[in-house]
Amino acid sequence: MKVIFDTDPGVDDAMALYYALAHPSIEVVGITTVFGNVTVTQATANALYLCGLTQCDAIPVAAGAARPLHKTPEAPPAHIHGSDGLGNLPQRDSVIGFAVEKDAADFLIAQVRANPHAITLVAVGPLTNLATALARDTTWAALVQRVVIMGGAVSVPGNVTATAEANIWNDPHAAQLVFEAPWQVDVVSLDVTHQVIMPAQLFERLAQRQPHAAMQTLNHAVQFYARYYSQRHADTVGKMHGCFGHDVLAFMALTDPALFQTLDTRLGVTTAGPEEGRTVQLTEGPARHTIYTSVDSAGCVKAFEATLAANWLG
Ligand code: RIB
Ligand code: CA
Repeated sequence: MKVIFDTDPGVDDAMALYYALAHPSIEVVGITTVFGNVTVTQATANALYLCGLTQCDAIPVAAGAARPLHKTPEAPPAHIHGSDGLGNLPQRDSVIGFAVEKDAADFLIAQVRANPHAITLVAVGPLTNLATALARDTTWAALVQRVVIMGGAVSVPGNVTATAEANIWNDPHAAQLVFEAPWQVDVVSLDVTHQVIMPAQLFERLAQRQPHAAMQTLNHAVQFYARYYSQRHADTVGKMHGCFGHDVLAFMALTDPALFQTLDTRLGVTTAGPEEGRTVQLTEGPARHTIYTSVDSAGCVKAFEATLAANWLG
């Protein structure tokens, strides 16, 4: 599977990226960055850094949107991901990388046009880059093979407000455009990501097993992130000290579909008012969205560890 990863790294984004790089059936052919967990400048620096650490610096990284389409941007959640997006790393190795000249939307258009019906988009941040590409090229959507997003909360509460999940909350207008576009979207939402708790110890094990800068970096970031989640969800996540894997489940939906149950439906987004950012099931129109309704949590954790523990770092 050739994938372009649209991301705001971000700790769970880093987890997802390393899962994708480690997985034999995924080829990451590009990364596009977006504001969200951090500024887009920091997200781009993090994507380049994470790729550099794994000697995957040949993967092109294109910088994307710095702010939502319409709403007033909010400060990044430094208390969740650290002010650098990677759990406040004490230092960084000297890994140098540069983003490509094209911005994210132009990069997405060019790559998909050069590889029609061959590229899957995995988008795990605010959907601003995808919405911008849809606006710039109105026939582009039909050439994308598949779209998987991490975002939304369909039958469960949100994680920013009572009804809104962070990626949709950060740019509800972009999400609405992505849901309305003429393509099928797989929606990996909090309905399943809140069912999968990644134990913090798992990352310690991985880092001990592979004393490589990439795994040390991921472990450091996850330990920071797990402190936040263990406090916020003391009765569930806190009991085993861990965190939600959120973004990595978007890749697992591709690599391990048997771990999930899904439902074909149609979603819309509330773009204003007290329920701003809510993902709503619509009763009219063709079913163009596959929502993920339940997941084999233990199976996900096991598959994640097996993939990251394999010999992918050389
Ligand atoms: O709600 C979870 C999502 O918001 C994930 O993509 C995470 O990285 C955060 O940005
Ligand atoms: Ca993310």
